[in-house]
Amino acid sequence: MAIRFAVPLAAFILTLSGAVVVNAEPAAAAVKPPANEDCLACHDDVGKPFASSIHEAASCVDCHADLSTVQEFPHSEKVAKVSCAACHDEIASQYRDGIHAWAKEKAGLKMAPSCADCHGRHDISPKTSATSRTHKNNVPATCGSCHEGLAEHYNQSIHAAVLKAGNAAAPTCADCHAVHATQRADVPSWRLGVAAECGSCHADVVDSFRRTFHGKVTELGFTRVAACADCHGAHEILPASNPASMIAKDRLVETCGSCHKGANEKFVQYDPHPNPRSHARSPLLWWINQFYTVLIAGCFGAFGLHSLLWFRRERQEKRRS
Ligand code: HEC
Ligand code: HEC
Ligand code: HEC
Ligand code: HEC
Ligand code: HEC
Ligand code: HEC
Ligand code: HEC
Ligand code: HEC
Ligand code: HEC
Repeated sequence: MAIRFAVPLAAFILTLSGAVVVNAEPAAAAVKPPANEDCLACHDDVGKPFASSIHEAASCVDCHADLSTVQEFPHSEKVAKVSCAACHDEIASQYRDGIHAWAKEKAGLKMAPSCADCHGRHDISPKTSATSRTHKNNVPATCGSCHEGLAEHYNQSIHAAVLKAGNAAAPTCADCHAVHATQRADVPSWRLGVAAECGSCHADVVDSFRRTFHGKVTELGFTRVAACADCHGAHEILPASNPASMIAKDRLVETCGSCHKGANEKFVQYDPHPNPRSHARSPLLWWINQFYTVLIAGCFGAFGLHSLLWFRRERQEKRRS
């Protein structure tokens, strides 16, 4: 009896599910997004760059999302702008906080960069790839496509020279400026932060800078006092031995004089990077430091010896009594 019922029941269930499948088929077909080949049939120029990009495994309509429901070609002429935020939401939210998004969306500056202006469209590659627009060697040119004058200054700097010589330890635009949450250069917190950024590579010099009046006040948050870039420049940084450098001997009066009215040859002999541990750099400071060290050592030594003798005498007296 169980079998007698079981067979028609199974048949019934099969029919039912079959019906569901049959009913579902047209619905599934209605939302099946176009394949990349469908798009490439007309846009074959996109195929080659796309095949070697980091997004190669994505489908066209992952980015061109409004075309994902298109069933008949040609599609409408109006295609929505691509939103990279759909997948890179963290970086997109940093970008929204930055000056570039503000300039583009709030101030209506059409020439401010969107993601694609810095990264490309169909040929995007990670920064580790030598041909990427965001590879360290190429960042100055990428930013320089708009900030042309600054990139020219940068290209004449010691930092650019070191980079061109193949030393990736040199900074580019991306080391000193946040590339996504880019801030205006006159934001105080950023200006103060740059000294720390220079310091991530020039630790000694920052140490000595902190000891000076300029450094102490900068640390307290007074941005009008000289920070690294006020004396060295930001993009045109050169060693003191180069006559074009802001810290070249012949230019110091001008550099310091921009804040210290009436600065002269004598005034600029003040060392902004005193180092008491270096005799060659700061001989007077070195001697003072030596004297101080000897004095401290002498004081504590004498104090220790005095205590030791005192204890000895106390014990001797105890034994005697
Ligand atoms: C039958 C040919 C054809 C197919 C298939 C096709 N397109 Fe197009 N597409 C065009 C034409 C024509 C234009 C307008 C002229 C131009 O910009 O090339 C266009 C324009 C575009 C634009 C630019 C719109 C603008 O604002 O400038 C995008 C983006 C685009 N297509 C994406 C796609 C994607 C993604 C697919 C696949 C889902 C696709 N197309 C499939 C013919 C086609
Ligand atoms: C990673 C995202 C992404 C993917 C994936 C992508 N595109 Fe695009 N595409 C863009 C961006 C960004 C633009 C520039 C317009 C914009 O910002 O909306 C663009 C523009 C286009 C244009 C306009 C003409 C041009 O070259 O600028 C066409 C046509 C197009 N895409 C076709 C395709 C096709 C075909 C595919 C799949 C092979 C594809 N796209 C995949 C991001 C993408
Ligand atoms: C002003 C130019 C610029 C803009 C605009 C920009 N990027 Fe970038 N992006 C860069 C640079 C340069 C790097 C490499 C940074 C580095 O060297 O650390 C980068 C790195 C990345 C990375 C790799 C992550 C990493 O840290 O290695 C992703 C993903 C990315 N950007 C996505 C986006 C998206 C999405 C947008 C838009 C919301 C965007 N970018 C806007 C310049 C830009
Ligand atoms: C459909 C989701 C999706 C969209 C939309 C998308 N991406 Fe990506 N993107 C990815 C994935 C996934 C990876 C990581 C691939 C990998 O690591 O192999 C990636 C990687 C990247 C990288 C390299 C990251 C690295 O580690 O260096 C960059 C740069 C990037 N995307 C930029 C963009 C930009 C710019 C846009 C908009 C034009 C965009 N992406 C749109 C999914 C997306
Ligand atoms: C060594 C660090 C450093 C590097 C590398 C660097 N910048 Fe700057 N940038 C600064 C500092 C510091 C300021 C603030 C300058 C000032 O107030 O005088 C600044 C200011 C700016 C400004 C604001 C305008 C101005 O002149 O004050 C822009 C735009 C800018 N930088 C873009 C770039 C670009 C593009 C690159 C790469 C070609 C780059 N920066 C490389 C540190 C750097
Ligand atoms: C497509 C053009 C374009 C590209 C590429 C671009 N920028 Fe900008 N940038 C702008 C515009 C437009 C502004 C806003 C106008 C202004 O205030 O100077 C701006 C503003 C800035 C500012 C603030 C300037 C200020 O007055 O304080 C900095 C810093 C900056 N960009 C750095 C960069 C860096 C670093 C890169 C590369 C990673 C870069 N930009 C790439 C167009 C661009
Ligand atoms: C008040 C002006 C001033 C300020 C502020 C300043 N410097 Fe200097 N810096 C100089 C002068 C002048 C020299 C050259 C001294 C000499 O003759 O060696 C110099 C030398 C240097 C040198 C090369 C010499 C060496 O000892 O390696 C580096 C690197 C340097 N500074 C980095 C920095 C950094 C980083 C900051 C910020 C933390 C900074 N400077 C702040 C004026 C300044
Ligand atoms: C990513 C690391 C890095 C950052 C950040 C950086 N530098 Fe440099 N800097 C270097 C390297 C590498 C050299 C070349 C080697 C050397 O002489 O120390 C150099 C050279 C210099 C020189 C010439 C030194 C000399 O021999 O006379 C000065 C001055 C200087 N940097 C100042 C700065 C200032 C100011 C900042 C911040 C606005 C800064 N640097 C940020 C890596 C960096
Ligand atoms: C961006 C502006 C600026 C630059 C550039 C600058 N300074 Fe200063 N400096 C200050 C300010 C502000 C003070 C605070 C004391 C004051 O009011 O004079 C100060 C303080 C000093 C002091 C100690 C104050 C005192 O009178 O005892 C000396 C010494 C000094 N600077 C030397 C220099 C030398 C040398 C240079 C060039 C290598 C230089 N400064 C470049 C702004 C600057």
